[in-house]
Amino acid sequence: MPKTIIISNRLPIKVQRTEEGLAYETSEGGLATGLGSIYKQGHNVWIGWPGTYFEDEAEEKQVHDDLSKQSMLPVFLTESEIRDYYEGFSNETLWPTFHYFSQYAVYEDAYWQAYQTVNQKFCDAVMEAAEPGDTIWIHDYQLLLLPELLREELPKSSIGFFQHIPFPSFEVFRLLPWREQILRGMLGADLIGFHTYDDARHFLSSVSRIVGLNTAQGLIDNGYRHIMVDAFPMGIDYDKYAALADSPETKAKIEEYRAALPDQKIVLSIDRLDYSKGIPQRLQAYELFLKEHPEFLGKVTLSMLVVPSRDQVEKYRQLKETIDELVGRINSSFRTITWNPIQYFYRSFPIEELSALYCVADIALVTPMRDGMNLVCKEFIASKLDHKGVLILSEMAGASRELADAILINPNDLGQIVRSLHEALTMPEEEQMLRMEHMQDLVRRYNIHHWVEIFMNRLEYIKVKQMSMA
Ligand code: UDP
Ligand code: G6P
Repeated sequence: MPKTIIISNRLPIKVQRTEEGLAYETSEGGLATGLGSIYKQGHNVWIGWPGTYFEDEAEEKQVHDDLSKQSMLPVFLTESEIRDYYEGFSNETLWPTFHYFSQYAVYEDAYWQAYQTVNQKFCDAVMEAAEPGDTIWIHDYQLLLLPELLREELPKSSIGFFQHIPFPSFEVFRLLPWREQILRGMLGADLIGFHTYDDARHFLSSVSRIVGLNTAQGLIDNGYRHIMVDAFPMGIDYDKYAALADSPETKAKIEEYRAALPDQKIVLSIDRLDYSKGIPQRLQAYELFLKEHPEFLGKVTLSMLVVPSRDQVEKYRQLKETIDELVGRINSSFRTITWNPIQYFYRSFPIEELSALYCVADIALVTPMRDGMNLVCKEFIASKLDHKGVLILSEMAGASRELADAILINPNDLGQIVRSLHEALTMPEEEQMLRMEHMQDLVRRYNIHHWVEIFMNRLEYIKVKQMSMA
C-alpha cells in the first residue's frame, strides 16, 4: 500500500545520552510538535536525524531498531556534519538570512559543501525506504536541495515541500552566494508550501529574478513540469490541547501554580532560545511597563520559559548571556521579599505542565522579531476552556495573519508593547471572551488535520494538472 514519507532534519523524538544509557525524549519546535500528531497514520514513515552523535555502530543499530518500531528511520550524522551542515549552513547561514538577520549570516564554503553532502545522505535514506506510488513530503530549510536530488532518482513521483520558516524578500535572499542552487533544489518539488502569502510571493519573485522562470499565478513552468507554490498556514492538534487542559494531571498542576502565585496576573512567554523570538526586547518592554505602572508592582508575574536550542552556535550563546543579565537586572531592581517580577526557566517542560501554564496565564506575550508561524500562541488559545485570557502577538509572526483578535504589536515598538500589556491587564472579561471565542473558532477549524488534508489534496491536484498540461 502506498505510504507518505515525511522527511525533516529533526525527528519528533530525540536521543539523549544519560548515565543509564540512551534515553528518548520528544523534540521541541513547531515542526516536530505539529506533525507529531499525524505521522503515525497508515504506513507512514518519518525520516530524520535523532538529534545526537553516536560513538559506534552498535549504538546506531539500537537506535535504528528502537525508532523503526515507531515508524521512524534515523539518518545518522557525523560530528563534523553536525557542526558544518546543522549548526553551520542551516543555522548560521540560512536561519539568520531567512529571518532577516543577515548581519548574523556566515558565508563559509565548507558549510555549503557539508550541506550538499548531508542532503545527499537524506536522499540515499529516502531511496532505501521509497516504493512505487509513495508520496514524499520534505520539510524545512535544512533540506532545500533534497527535492531536486529525489526528482533525479524518481522523476515521476509526487514530491511536496513545506518551509516552516519565513522566505525573505528577494533583496535579502540574493545575498546568499548559493541562491540559484538553493532555488533549483527546491524546484524539484511539485508543490512548494509556505505559511503565508508573503512568503510564497517572495519565493516566486526570487525564482523569477534569479532563475528566470515564468511564475504567473503561482505556477512555475520549468520546461518539464508545472510546479505549484501556495500558502498553507499550519494549524495545531486543537482537540489534543483542549483535552489536555481538561485532564486530571493538568488540573492538579493548575491548582499547584495558583496556590504558588495567589492573586497574581500571570503573563506567559514560551520560546526556544532564539534571537528571532525577540526575548530581550520583550524583557525591556516588561521592565518599562513596571517603571511606568507602579500600581502593578507585586501584582503581576512574567512566567518566562526559554527552551535551550542550538547552544553550540555562537549567537545563541551570546543571547543566553544577554537574557540572563536582563532577567537578573529586572528581578534585582524590582523584587520584594514576597514577590518576583520574573519567573525564569531555562529548560524544556513536559506537555502537561505547558498545558497548565497555558491555562493559568492571563496573557500570552508572543513578540518574535520574525517567525514563520508560531504555534505557541495557537496552543494557548486551544487551552483556554473558560474562553478568558488575552493574546499579545507580534505582527512579524505568520500567525498574526489569521489571529486578528489578538492585540497585534510591532516588536520594535517597546512603547506599544507597554500599552498593550496595560490594555490586556485591564481588558473587561466580556471583551476577552469575545476575542478568544473568535480565535478559538478559527484555530479549531484550521487545525493540523485540515492543514495536512489541504496540502495533500493540492499535491494530488497538481500531479493531475501536470499530466493534462504535458
Ligand atoms: N515546546 C516544547 N517544550 C517546551 C516548550 C515548548 O515542546 O518546553 C513546544 C511548543 O509546545 C510548540 C513548539 O515547541 O509546539 C514551538 O513551536 P513554535 O512554532 O512556537 O516555534 P519554533 O520553536 O518552531 O520556532
Ligand atoms: C523550528 C524549525 C524546525 C526545527 C525547530 C527546532 O521550528 O522550523 O525545523 O526543528 O525550530 O530547532 P532544532 O535546530 O532544534 O531542530
